[in-house]
Amino acid sequence: MIVEQGRYLILQGKGISYILRIHEQGYLLHVYYGRKLRENDFPYFPSAPRSFYTFAPDQVFLEGESQEYPAFGYNDLKEGAVEVLADGKIAALSLKYKSHEISDGKPAIDGLPSSKANGVACQTLAVTLSDDAYGVEVRLLYTVFEDSDVIARHAEIRNSGKGALRLTRAFSCCLDATGMRGSETDMISLRGAWAKERNLERHSLFQGVSEIGNRTGESGHYLNPFAALCGRATTSDYGDALGAMLVYSGNHRFRVDVDAYDNIRLACGIHDGGFAWDLAPGETFRTPECLLCFSWQGLDGMSQAYHDFLRAHILPQRFRSSFRPVLINSWESMYFDFDEEKILEVARQAKQSGIELFVLDDGWFGKRNDDTTSLGDWYPNPEKLPSGVAGLAEKINALGLKFGIWVEPEMANPVSELLKAHPDFPIACKAHPPVLGRNQQVLDLTDPRVVEFIGKFLDELLSCGKISYIKWDMNRSMAEVTEPGFVHRYYLGLYKILGDITEKYPDVLFEGCSGGGGRFDAGMLCYHPQIWTSDDSDAIERLRIQEGTALCYPLSAMGAHVTACPNHQVWRTTPFSTRANVASFGTFGYELNVARLSEEEKAEVKAQIAAYRKIEPLIREGDFAVLHSAFARGNFTAWQVTSKDKKRAVVLCVRTLASANAAGERVRLRGLNPDALYTEARSGRNYYGDELMYRGFFPSVPSTDFASVLTEFVEESEETNR
Ligand code: DGJ
Repeated sequence: MIVEQGRYLILQGKGISYILRIHEQGYLLHVYYGRKLRENDFPYFPSAPRSFYTFAPDQVFLEGESQEYPAFGYNDLKEGAVEVLADGKIAALSLKYKSHEISDGKPAIDGLPSSKANGVACQTLAVTLSDDAYGVEVRLLYTVFEDSDVIARHAEIRNSGKGALRLTRAFSCCLDATGMRGSETDMISLRGAWAKERNLERHSLFQGVSEIGNRTGESGHYLNPFAALCGRATTSDYGDALGAMLVYSGNHRFRVDVDAYDNIRLACGIHDGGFAWDLAPGETFRTPECLLCFSWQGLDGMSQAYHDFLRAHILPQRFRSSFRPVLINSWESMYFDFDEEKILEVARQAKQSGIELFVLDDGWFGKRNDDTTSLGDWYPNPEKLPSGVAGLAEKINALGLKFGIWVEPEMANPVSELLKAHPDFPIACKAHPPVLGRNQQVLDLTDPRVVEFIGKFLDELLSCGKISYIKWDMNRSMAEVTEPGFVHRYYLGLYKILGDITEKYPDVLFEGCSGGGGRFDAGMLCYHPQIWTSDDSDAIERLRIQEGTALCYPLSAMGAHVTACPNHQVWRTTPFSTRANVASFGTFGYELNVARLSEEEKAEVKAQIAAYRKIEPLIREGDFAVLHSAFARGNFTAWQVTSKDKKRAVVLCVRTLASANAAGERVRLRGLNPDALYTEARSGRNYYGDELMYRGFFPSVPSTDFASVLTEFVEESEETNR
């Protein structure tokens, strides 16, 4: 998998090659990342010729070369990956190759979540670079996996000298996209805000800088820690796409530079605004992991490669192939207004409808009847839960349902008993009065006392043994951060809490949440196999939110609920079937009062759950494809998910607004076996795979607003065997 040939180090993945070169004068150069190249005995990858050299220490024009981990200011005048202050002055670093080693497997990154081998063959290349004059050593680690086109990268920066160093930038990755030209390339990012997370943004690159980032103390609602570069002509099923994703939940920055020669440099990592890290002699700083992905089969190819990778190497494996329980969450049906009887009434009805898990959301603790109070006071409100959490869980369990509960451990309200006893627990700048967000303050997770408090509260909650699920919420951004590097330290504290608690309670399913999808990232997915995708649960709005999220995150990671209408976010009324169909392309659940549904609707819930159970294996493990994008101009969205053996394909088609005399929508499937005969479940009609892919079919979506069809194509032999 990793081949050494002369001065070349060649990483060979499933369908990709990643090639580095050790330059004669010691620089570590990037040669290639793209579709797999054959191995041969005479590797020779010439650099692009230059007409004149403007800048040449060591007689090497590094501005025209691609360094794997460049530093700005000595022999490279493009933006670099690392910046160091030595004795308060900017170090003009010249990092040169010292050694390298290749080992089997995937090392963990101390203190940070990262991908794991999980039984898949993989190899890791570690290259050490050093600038002995400044006493800076950089270890670059690359892991290539037999089953994937993703390369996992990170850097470790060590103070190898005698004086103090201060890192002011320590990106995870820098990559010169050698196969792409700036003037012919687009950048794609996932932008949004609360209730409109991860919408696709695509724009053309230009000479200069395109960048995204977030400094709000979480990966954020605004700009997800992910970016892709793709050819101008790349579509969902055609062309090259190169993605970069951080396994990180804190402040992040993705910078894409196009230089005067049309070269593209992509660099990403912890946001360097407000970041600094002091390194005493001998100390090492480890960056978060970056997952690079290359596809020559369009954006769907990239999505599928990321989905496969995250499922196999990021998500907690215990939940990878097991059925996730169909849950009902209390939030939108009860908000803060509930008591035990009300809960049990919904739970009884939920059980009858086939729901498997009851989740009690916000409002069960302290005196919390609205969002002004009690975060931090994690004891049950006796008026609402007279038999406590364990007592309620027992009653729910007795009905034949699992029990889950909401927590927001990183926060406290100023009026809480917790903050009265520990006024120094929250983050505070002290110069000004506290900044509140949703009436609450963020606890200082860099303080070991706070880490201990949160760990203890969660342990006490879970130790009753009756809780199968935790919804872990986080409902405000960070402010008043005065120490450089604080946010990164905060995440080291959070990851420790998450690591400890999920290790102690491996069977408890954790769902992440941050005011909806404000912390939907691969870092959190290492602990939370699913994350609440958005507080906007309207089926039509969800088309964009879920399709955008699926650009790089697997469907099984997306919490998706059927909620009541008129919808609580946009007041739109959509058919019950469409709400369920859209939620089926995620981890399915309900968030409405089932006890108040009509008999007809109750029967529909049963049928929806049964239908979801049939397609769930595909949602969990299949290949997702965007047939008609929700982001395209038009009125029609179509998605497909196909089993790995190509024997089953589920297709969802949604019409947004009906229009008179509209043309029929032809839908062409992808990734089927052209020679196999498929039966469409709804109509019973037979089609060969080639016909479905090349000619297409016309789904019979009713001609009304927000109508949808969820249909399945099953290979003949499969159908008869089922
Ligand atoms: C924000 C979440 O996104 C909601 O689902 C709900 O849990 C509320 N917080 C509760 O305060």
